[in-house]
Amino acid sequence: MALKYLTPGPVQIPKPVIGSIGRQPQFHRSDEFRKVFKELIDKLMRVYDSRPIILPGTGTLSVDVAVYNYLDPNDKVIAVVNGEFGERFAESLASRGCIVRRIEWEYGDIPPPDVIEDVMRREGDVKAIAVVHNESSTGTTNRYIEEYQEVAEGYGAVLLIDSVSLFPVEVPKRSVDVIATASHKAFISPPGASILYISKEPRAKTPVPPSMDLRKFVKFMEKFETPYTPPINVIYGLNSALDYILELGLETYCRIHRDRANFLYDRIKLKAVARREFRSYTITAFYTSRAREVVATLRSYGYIITAGMGKLRDNVIRIGVMGDVSLDDLSIVAEVVNRYVD
Ligand SMILES: Cc1ncc(COP(=O)(O)O)c(C=O)c1O
Repeated sequence: MALKYLTPGPVQIPKPVIGSIGRQPQFHRSDEFRKVFKELIDKLMRVYDSRPIILPGTGTLSVDVAVYNYLDPNDKVIAVVNGEFGERFAESLASRGCIVRRIEWEYGDIPPPDVIEDVMRREGDVKAIAVVHNESSTGTTNRYIEEYQEVAEGYGAVLLIDSVSLFPVEVPKRSVDVIATASHKAFISPPGASILYISKEPRAKTPVPPSMDLRKFVKFMEKFETPYTPPINVIYGLNSALDYILELGLETYCRIHRDRANFLYDRIKLKAVARREFRSYTITAFYTSRAREVVATLRSYGYIITAGMGKLRDNVIRIGVMGDVSLDDLSIVAEVVNRYVD
């Protein structure tokens, strides 16, 4: 039986994207490849008006790259922690030797901008605000990113956002300093490319490992190259995926995901983890005491969904709606899940 992936990623990749990756990789210092790479960069800039950078890696690496290029050891950073990926962001900051001031917030909820501002004022000399745009462990989207950016600017700090599981379904309506994302979620491509959008120059004074050094990547980008071998076949996939996304248009792309997610939020008779206004359009999450049974039964129907993470491991299910997923698929999934509602 063919399985369909309704996970937080890698997602069910559309067939044309799969078709585009199965080929001999070109030499990355050739004119042919530079042309392909330039096409991708142009498309990424049409998605969001900032400077895109591509490195070989996944979401974790893009977050680490953001941390290491914008912060030095002993820099003070505010980290919003309302789920597992907020924890991981804080862990990355700690590994750089930053002084991490955590804003712990209830899972499924988002701290309003005035809370961030208060902490910024009280702490003083904060160099960055670190926040997860879409907390995949709880299906919760931070819809205050633009306001957080304003707060950061007011204090001369940078805003670093982990948008690994959301971009480009919801893109910020204004320029955000640093966005970390990846190829294998809402960019509907295979894993292998870490993608960053930077609108401020890297600020770190402490050396960064060469493979993660954004200054090197920025320099090479001038000639549409990367300092080291890029994820060439993933780049072919991204090029094809972006043709599809841009042809639909970003508004439609967002609406399609919102409609799919709302279809599940409306049909499934379980409580969503996220508060209504912060419900994610890419990953839905619901409380249930029967997470394992639901995941196993759906697998027997050919659908891969997943349970919760960390402290929510056994009492949450998560259903991704990115990629090649139809409302018919979601209808079957909702029907099966509802059999487990007590
Ligand atoms: C919000 C978020 N950040 C970071 C990551 C880590 O990405 P990866 O597993 O691709 O390294 C994930 C993965 O699910 C994620 O959802």
